[in-house]
This record gives sequence, structure tokens and C-alpha cells, in this order.
Amino acid sequence: MATSMAKEDLRFERVTGTIGAVAHGVELGATPPPATIEALRDAVHEFGVLFLEFDHVLDDADFRAIADLFGQPEDGYALRPRDVESPVIDSAMTPMEDYRINVWHTDGSTLECPPQTAILTALEVPEYGGDTMWASMYAAWDALSSHYQHLLDGLEALHSTKKLPFLDNGPTATHPVVLRDPVTQRKMLYVNANYTESIVGMHEHESDSLLEMLYEHVNTPEFHVRLRWRPGRVAVWDERATQHRGVADFTGTRKLRRLTYPGTPPTA
Ligand SMILES: [Fe+2]
Repeated sequence: MATSMAKEDLRFERVTGTIGAVAHGVELGATPPPATIEALRDAVHEFGVLFLEFDHVLDDADFRAIADLFGQPEDGYALRPRDVESPVIDSAMTPMEDYRINVWHTDGSTLECPPQTAILTALEVPEYGGDTMWASMYAAWDALSSHYQHLLDGLEALHSTKKLPFLDNGPTATHPVVLRDPVTQRKMLYVNANYTESIVGMHEHESDSLLEMLYEHVNTPEFHVRLRWRPGRVAVWDERATQHRGVADFTGTRKLRRLTYPGTPPTA
């Protein structure tokens, strides 16, 4: 039966000290009022990633209905690998190691306007393994010393697809190294190991060492949350305030369905 899904019906249960919350009270077929939708969307900015759980695999219509709660998804993500037309990401089409899915990244940072949000649901999962991890870029920023914060704030970095040969002649973009979230007003680190090529204005060895240090920093377990996929599980994440990666420890079929939401250019 359709419910109204009032804002009071929503409850966010934190999963770790820095990132991730389970959203309780989101129902399929509900017609939420604007206040509920706003609370859900703000929660993505606040927690970085929201997890939802349903008792069955979401078909196209179900997935679209949940996706619509979080914004207007884009028709196609601009940085999809060759030969991948549909929004379904299939492990057979995109083996994690070949596509560097198991390396910390945020989607589309080589675009002028990378996606702001993404949503993923599991259709078929391996018996074990193939988890997805997210890292909080708020926590990564907060944990840097004031010396490094001072050095990084105001810098810009070049993002390219140089490390991803399956994306030939991909776009490039320059973005601030430190962004500020428009909802939470928190600062976040915005460089990632898949797409950030260099820091603008630095000598190559300076830029390489600094980026390497920051990638190591992102790898800190205190910034992470990890989801074991089950059919019917959904994750919605802020593409700016988090990075994500898969864990390439499985065999067999792993089918996830993804949509992304357009963003405005990242700003400091
Ligand atoms: Fe990704």
C-alpha cells in the first residue's frame, strides 16, 4: 500500500564514525512530500553514502522510483567504457582490475561537470566477495595537519584518463584540490588515484610525491565504510565528498545497476 513517507518516518543509522548511514523508512511506491525528499538528499551530502535495503531485487521500475527520490538521473554517464551502452554494470563487461574499479576514485572527475551523485543496486551477486568501499573526503581533509591544509587549499589539479587506456582520448578538466560542499559547508579533498594527473603549477616530482602521499592518506581505514552486496541493497553516494572502489576478490557473476546525477562544476 502506498504511504506518504513523512520526514518523521526517516531514520539514519550511522555505520562508522566518519562515513555511511543506513536509511530506514524509505518505501517503494511511496509519494514523499518535499520535506522528506530534501531530508534524504541532504543526508547524502552529510553521510557521504546512504544504504537502503529492500526485500527483493529491484526491477527497472523499482530502481527508477528509488533513484527519482534523489534527483533527476542523467541518461548516460559520459565516461562509460567502450561497448557499454546500458546503465547496467556487469562484471563480465568491466573486470575490476582491467578497468581500475578496484582503485580509489570518484567517477568522471575528468569532466568539467562530473556527476554529483550516483546510485547503485545489486541484481546478482557472487557467493562472497566483490564488496564496494567508500572513503570520506571530509574525513581525509579534516585529518590533514594545518600545514598540509594550508599548502593544498587554493591549488588546482589536472584530471585526465591517462591511466585508463580503455577510455581513449578521454576529456581533461582542471578542478580545485579542495572543494566545499554546498549543503554541509564542509571542505573535502578532491584528488583521486585514477584520474588526477598533476597539480597545476608544481614541478613534476613535487606533484607526483604530493599526490602519492594523498592517495596513501585516502587509504586510511578510519575514513572507510564497506558494503557487502545482497540483491535488493542500494547505495547512494555523493561523488564529491567520497571516493569508492570495488574489491576484486570474487569469481562468478556480479551485476550491479547504476545511474548518475548531473552536477555543477566542483567549486572551492
Ligand atoms: Fe566508479
